[in-house]
Amino acid sequence: MHFLKDRGFTHATPSDITPRGVYEQRRQLIKGLAGTALAGIAARDAIAQTSGPGKLPALPGAKSSVPGAMTMEKLTSYTDVTSYNNFYEYGTDKADPGRAAHMLKTRPWTVAVEGEVKKPKTFDIDELLKLSPMEERIYRLRCVEGWSMVIPWVGYSLAELIKRVEPTGNAKFVQFITLADKAQMPGVRSGVLDWPYSEGLRLDEAMHPLTLLGFGLYGEVMPNQNGAPVRLVVPWKYGFKSAKSIVKIRFVDKQPPTSWQTAAPQEYGFYSNVNPAVDHPRWSQATERRIGEAGGLFAKRKPTLPFNGYEAQVAPLYAGMDLKKNF
Ligand code: MTE
Repeated sequence: MHFLKDRGFTHATPSDITPRGVYEQRRQLIKGLAGTALAGIAARDAIAQTSGPGKLPALPGAKSSVPGAMTMEKLTSYTDVTSYNNFYEYGTDKADPGRAAHMLKTRPWTVAVEGEVKKPKTFDIDELLKLSPMEERIYRLRCVEGWSMVIPWVGYSLAELIKRVEPTGNAKFVQFITLADKAQMPGVRSGVLDWPYSEGLRLDEAMHPLTLLGFGLYGEVMPNQNGAPVRLVVPWKYGFKSAKSIVKIRFVDKQPPTSWQTAAPQEYGFYSNVNPAVDHPRWSQATERRIGEAGGLFAKRKPTLPFNGYEAQVAPLYAGMDLKKNF
């Protein structure tokens, strides 16, 4: 991972990303428990226990209290999380992003929030980092290709940002548009997808507390190959919904086109909720391979859970919908 630092990788200085909210929360907690034997234990438990190799600036988050946000499953190693990636702007091989994403310049960086909102605004990334206290969320990520990981993300609910821009009554969907810069992203010269990579959610999905605006993982700022400096993580949907390196968030009245749906509409739907009962036209979605487990390609596959295991939290969003038709 040395190359991230050695080849002109730009990132926030630790003072830029001091998570003031986390610090204050922690202080409140300690004050509240001061004098009790529990204080030390509670303070320790409130701080993320997971940390990366320390090559990137720290970005701690308080353990999330959002229901479902802290799966107890074994974490996928930092090495696997950062070397087995899908980020087609850097190539289609799983190792390409880890090798090439050092070319991504993450400062200066802005995210334009626009469309059907009362308060459109272009946020500087360092302002976005301070918008709400950072939380650690341990999510399963299930790729449509049939593999999965368990990743300790750092970020806050996208709803925190949405509330501040005040969607109008016409806002029914949210579109996410990511960087497409040939100079920094060699894959954008290829025609594998329509660039820029774009994704979309229904407004109520975007507002769901589990929908994360992610700024880091393993207690450190986001590695470039995982979608620095800011990405989406929607844990109950196939991984491709979780757009990396976002530059624009647009509120719209109609379901927006998405890169994968445009590329192969019969294979990738707008909803893309993880669903073991609906096969991809070319393979089954009933089971998954957990990356990093002993046995490699021959390891026993795990059953895939409806909504990737987040059914209790998100199934009500789809009450009455035919999920075979709305795949
Ligand atoms: N975002 C962009 N901009 N470009 C991509 O190619 N790939 C998606 C998603 N977000 C992709 C993207 C897919 S298919 C998956 S499975 C996840 O990112 C992978 O995230 P990870 O590499 O951090 O595990």
